Amino acid sequence: MDSSTSVVLPDLTAAESAAAARSVGKAGSIGFRIGSNGRGITYSVVGESVRVDEDLDGADTIVALSDVAWADFVAQMRTFINLFLAGELAFERGTFNQLSAWDPALRLLHAGISIYDPSTADFQGRDPQAVLSLACDDAELRAQLDTMGYLHLRGVFSVEEMTAADAEIDRLASLAAPGDEASWWARDETDNDVLCRLVYASMRSDVLAALENDPRIVRLGRLIEPAAMSAPDRMEGAAVLLKAPGETKGLSNIPWHQDCGMGGHAMMCPALSIGIQITGSSAATGNLRMIPGSHGQTMHYQWESRLGDVPVVEIDTAPGDVTVHIQDVMHASPKPTGAGGRRTMYVTFYPPRLWDHVGPGEAFNDLVRNRTAQVADMHQHL
Ligand SMILES: [Fe+2]
Repeated sequence: MDSSTSVVLPDLTAAESAAAARSVGKAGSIGFRIGSNGRGITYSVVGESVRVDEDLDGADTIVALSDVAWADFVAQMRTFINLFLAGELAFERGTFNQLSAWDPALRLLHAGISIYDPSTADFQGRDPQAVLSLACDDAELRAQLDTMGYLHLRGVFSVEEMTAADAEIDRLASLAAPGDEASWWARDETDNDVLCRLVYASMRSDVLAALENDPRIVRLGRLIEPAAMSAPDRMEGAAVLLKAPGETKGLSNIPWHQDCGMGGHAMMCPALSIGIQITGSSAATGNLRMIPGSHGQTMHYQWESRLGDVPVVEIDTAPGDVTVHIQDVMHASPKPTGAGGRRTMYVTFYPPRLWDHVGPGEAFNDLVRNRTAQVADMHQHL
């Protein structure tokens, strides 16, 4: 491999090569025209492996992008969806669909990230629906987290503590307004603005800051990385989700995603998101759903139409429960089937290297927050 392409391909096992080749399906070969001098690289499936050529001869799909965009893509700093939404990919031949089909194989080739396969998932005899508590020692919590990619803990906070936090969220919600850089809004069925997220919430609330810094939360946030820290002033800080009922336009209901799906995997995974369940949750109020054991791997965009027999766990919670999830576990927060109204405060603990890359106001969500309608609309066209 020519160093000018900035790709160092790992030595894949035969099984990994076969998985990469299989994951591409019938998408054909894909080439990238990189930078102003137009150098090319093409990936093709040959038998049970992927071949890499340093030209664009015979590429069924050709994607042109800058040197910087290519470097970010290969380094797992920006995803293909991020680059696509930013208008930094030009399809000279083929479409987004071919690139989407190739993405898991490319992440395996570029970064050694394996491709999720439900048939090889190993839960080590553990229960994906297990409900634990802070009485468990760290080794037990870590073992469950390492296996599933998430935890559900019962009764971390008292009902009284959650009632006080709920009242504080009411106060912040009453002060929120569209465009205030501190909240997300969707449109409800009558086309009115409806508040769906408060961000940087602990920056303007001593009550919520105390929750964020509570030793119970810090303990959980540091289960994987002892030096991990919460980031009240960046990456949207402490974010309070307020699930609106009914059909909404915008990003109140979140489809299946990995939290690094827009980029930043290399600098933030395996960050841990701690979900403090202010109200509790169920399908009726809009609960959290997980694919157990999917963390640390890639899944196709639109995996639902490609994979069968994928286990899905719904996490129903009571006020004071806490969820913990690794940012790259596949998860969703679908439309409430009933009254809606789940309130959850998410505090995310990041590895220290995040602070080298992201300053206040520089996260991808900071850029899209006031363009949620446009972003949701773009998602529908992907
Ligand atoms: Fe998420």
